[in-house]
Amino acid sequence: MCGIVAYVGERTAYPILIKGLQRLEYRGYDSAGIALLNKGIHVYKCQGKVKDLEKHTNGNAISGTIGMGHTRWATHGEPSDNNAHPHESENGKFIVVHNGIIENYAHLKKELINRGYNFKSETDTEVLANLIENIYLEKKVDAELAVRLALTKVVGAYGLVISCTDEKDQLIAARKGSPLVIGVGDKEYFLASDATPIVEYTDQVIYMNDEEVAIISREKLDMKSIQNDAKVPKIQKVDLSIEEIDKGDYEHFMLKEIYEQPSSIADTYRGRISLDKSKIFLGGITEALPAIAKANRIIIVACGTSWHAGLVGEYLFEEYARIPVEVEYASEFRYRNPVVSADDVVIAISQSGETADTLAAIKMAKEAGATIIGICNVAGSSIPRETHAGVYTHAGPEIGVASTKAFTSQVTVLTMMALLIGKKRLALDEITYSHMVDELTQIPEKIKEILKSEKHIKEIAETYQKASNVLYLGRGCLFPVALEGALKLKEISYIHAEGYPAAEMKHGPIALIDENMPVFVIATKDKSYEKIVSNIQEVKARNGKVIAIVTKGDTVITNMADHVIEVPDCHEALAPLLTVIPLQIISYHIAVLRGCNVDQPRNLAKSVTVE
Ligand code: G6P
Repeated sequence: MCGIVAYVGERTAYPILIKGLQRLEYRGYDSAGIALLNKGIHVYKCQGKVKDLEKHTNGNAISGTIGMGHTRWATHGEPSDNNAHPHESENGKFIVVHNGIIENYAHLKKELINRGYNFKSETDTEVLANLIENIYLEKKVDAELAVRLALTKVVGAYGLVISCTDEKDQLIAARKGSPLVIGVGDKEYFLASDATPIVEYTDQVIYMNDEEVAIISREKLDMKSIQNDAKVPKIQKVDLSIEEIDKGDYEHFMLKEIYEQPSSIADTYRGRISLDKSKIFLGGITEALPAIAKANRIIIVACGTSWHAGLVGEYLFEEYARIPVEVEYASEFRYRNPVVSADDVVIAISQSGETADTLAAIKMAKEAGATIIGICNVAGSSIPRETHAGVYTHAGPEIGVASTKAFTSQVTVLTMMALLIGKKRLALDEITYSHMVDELTQIPEKIKEILKSEKHIKEIAETYQKASNVLYLGRGCLFPVALEGALKLKEISYIHAEGYPAAEMKHGPIALIDENMPVFVIATKDKSYEKIVSNIQEVKARNGKVIAIVTKGDTVITNMADHVIEVPDCHEALAPLLTVIPLQIISYHIAVLRGCNVDQPRNLAKSVTVE
């Protein structure tokens, strides 16, 4: 949700900012802008993507060794040139880029209007720029103090980079709620919403904490709290390589990430499964294991695809660890008055580790005394810092807005957790446990086999590319896969799609079925196989088109369905990891065939740091 990048040093800032914004574009792509500061002040911004910004700056002055940039996901005010960041204060003293939401902006704006301020945009960020300037001019303080005083009046979330045109050799950064990383080089500093724009130049980073302010010039970095307490910055080595954030030979990040799943899943369990494949070690939750094992219940909170992984987790925990589980949309959980106690374990699942609702939900559960466990992909992000314990998914950076490899890595972690806890609670016998661990390690090879059928899946995509509605059906732990399949399709191809528990079809969706309705049925061999065969017959009886995901060698469904996609046989609890792959591939190809922007679908952003 909005990406920020900034640079102060001896290099020309422009290419660093542009490249950085391209890396952060997954966070929003409604408009983009930069400000180049020390050699005169040049602000360029426009609606559209970073490539539009490049066209816009073409032929203009782009020198300067200090600058900031922003790529926007619109919250306050439509995507437009005016609403694009950076925002300048009315008298041109301050320039600001912002990620987050200033909740009390309307009240602050009214006060500033009363003091004679005019506004050029509809954004909350311009309010902040003017608030800082107003304090700076009225109180006659330096820029840093003006920023800190302004922030004491602000309610909301922010990652900010600010420049004062009277103090052009320094940048001021501040964070509350929205992420900010500082890259530390030799007489140079980088700032960004995540480490991806920075790793090309330095592997030394500082993850800013909430309510911290950094005052950064070429020569030095000062960190303090908003209240002026000195802070010692903790420099860490970032574990991210430039190849990981490159598309390589793939046309889209999404396709690259789909193909990475054999290795990303192996990376998730690497070092966590004993060599004889009979044991699981999850170092990050070792200390919390007794609390989890004796939990009254587990509450899983998440959003989007991570919520779907949570639903698979519910099935696994209940089946193998025999602990009752509730899976909650973080946004619903936090605004209800949920009954949470110290005997509950709350598991937050988040790829980015920054999703505002998930973060708020765990803060609330923490206050109620629950043990909080995180399952996140991005190291150093906010959610892992708020949890008592957790497990990183180690899927590597996921850039495509539609989540693929993060989902399968989350499900892998949840599978390992369920087995480990099941064993600890004696709910799972040794033989089943070892057998399932061994089966889990076979998943990467089985995914490689599925990936070989991409051509066949693409042909099916060609047949259904013009569909207006699509239904996805599954049962048990394959119901969340149906939801995920439908989400993938609607996110990137803009086709209306719905996932349903297969048996629920007769309570409504069946009314929609006719010869124009493609129905994806996830029907691998498991205990509800016979039931799902009946569901397929019900669809066929109404002339629906059935595309079935089946276990290799299935002849029964093959004779009924219009198309089948085979996946290798596996333990039924692991079937989500295999069956989701063809659904990802089909959504990808349908979106490409429809000419959609697969990696940056309209209106979406990968990291949702607004509530
Ligand atoms: C956005 C993304 C989804 C993601 C969801 C939750 O909607 O587009 O792909 O599943 O946020 O994000 P998280 O980072 O918490 O998993």
